[in-house]
Amino acid sequence: MRQALTKVEDPEIHKPITELGMVKDVTIGSEGDVKVGVYLTVQGCPMRETITQRVDSAVSEVTGVGSVEVELDVMSDEQRTELRKQLRGDAEEPRIPFAEPGSLTRVYCVASGKGGVGKSSVTVNLAASMAERGLSVGVVDADIYGHSVPRMLGTESKPTQVENMIMPPQAHGVKLISIGMFTPGNTPVVWRGPMLHRALQQFLSDVFWGDLDVLLLDLPPGTGDVALSTAQLIPNAEILVVTTPQQAAAEVAERAGAIAMQTRQRIAGVVENMSWMELEDGQRVEVFGSGGGQIVSESLTRSVGSEVPLLGQVPLDTRLRESGDSGAPLVLQDPDSPASTVLSDVAKKLSTRARGLAGQLLSVSPA
Ligand SMILES: Nc1ncnc2c1ncn2[C@@H]1O[C@H](COP(=O)(O)OP(=O)(O)O)[C@@H](O)[C@H]1O
Ligand SMILES: [Mg+2]
Repeated sequence: MRQALTKVEDPEIHKPITELGMVKDVTIGSEGDVKVGVYLTVQGCPMRETITQRVDSAVSEVTGVGSVEVELDVMSDEQRTELRKQLRGDAEEPRIPFAEPGSLTRVYCVASGKGGVGKSSVTVNLAASMAERGLSVGVVDADIYGHSVPRMLGTESKPTQVENMIMPPQAHGVKLISIGMFTPGNTPVVWRGPMLHRALQQFLSDVFWGDLDVLLLDLPPGTGDVALSTAQLIPNAEILVVTTPQQAAAEVAERAGAIAMQTRQRIAGVVENMSWMELEDGQRVEVFGSGGGQIVSESLTRSVGSEVPLLGQVPLDTRLRESGDSGAPLVLQDPDSPASTVLSDVAKKLSTRARGLAGQLLSVSPA
């Protein structure tokens, strides 16, 4: 009977259910009536019908078998953990390829002090520009509460699962994964620290990114759990600070950058967004004041002890917002607009910059 069951594959994992610990028990009655207990990996498994059918037909083929009854049960947490370990091969902790020594992927965490400064717009345009330059680019929308990257990249696709890997959808040549893809509709996500950490860990370890040149993480504003989790999960990730020219925004952005001091992460630079609006006659109106990017850059340079450059100043442009709303990044749609020119230039700087000591926090203070 077991022999017959080895021919039954789990429709998702594509391995015999006998190898996956999914066969709970088999009882054979005197009349040749067989009862098979099967563990589903999760409650409400969408494949329950398929599994039941497969078991039924495999067992029915055995000579002498009368009726077949399949009884479904659900794996315990321990059984699931065991299965996951088995599928992954060995390691208890999921492996994050970007955090391995010798990883060639540059990881940038896009951070800001407060929301609405254009962090996601910057992330998406940098990613699209890098992808267009021929780089292999991934984006993790780690802004758990304000996830907007899928919309800005114009995709509603869900990730697909192959074996125990999650395949990320792709848009404009950018692979992306978002917490929004795992929540029904527009349900707000109320997650606590440990769950966020686990979700993030999964995005980084279980998503099949392939060999990425660059991975961008759109962090939630501020210095919360997600920022600390990413620092812990990918210590070699660099911080990219986004601010507006406003003094108040600059101060909080500085604080967001300053967590890099505690986590010993490198700060790649500062992008000032919404710097000015250009009128028809070429006159610049500084809607949100001026100097914020410069202030953050100088202040972080002082605290880090090496240069944290102001990488660019992105002007206000209604087309930048419209392109975000319509899911076609401005750098692709209108590459010659002033905002696109600056964003592409920043993308170029971030993708060609050689790894070095620049911006790295030294553990010794200069004498
Ligand atoms: N330079 C800009 N010019 C015009 N609108 C912008 C600019 N940058 C961002 N926006 C718009 O401002 C809003 C907030 O930007 P968003 O990228 O979502 O910020 P964050 O991710 O920091 O919350 C969005 O509607 C976006 O389209
Ligand atoms: Mg955002």
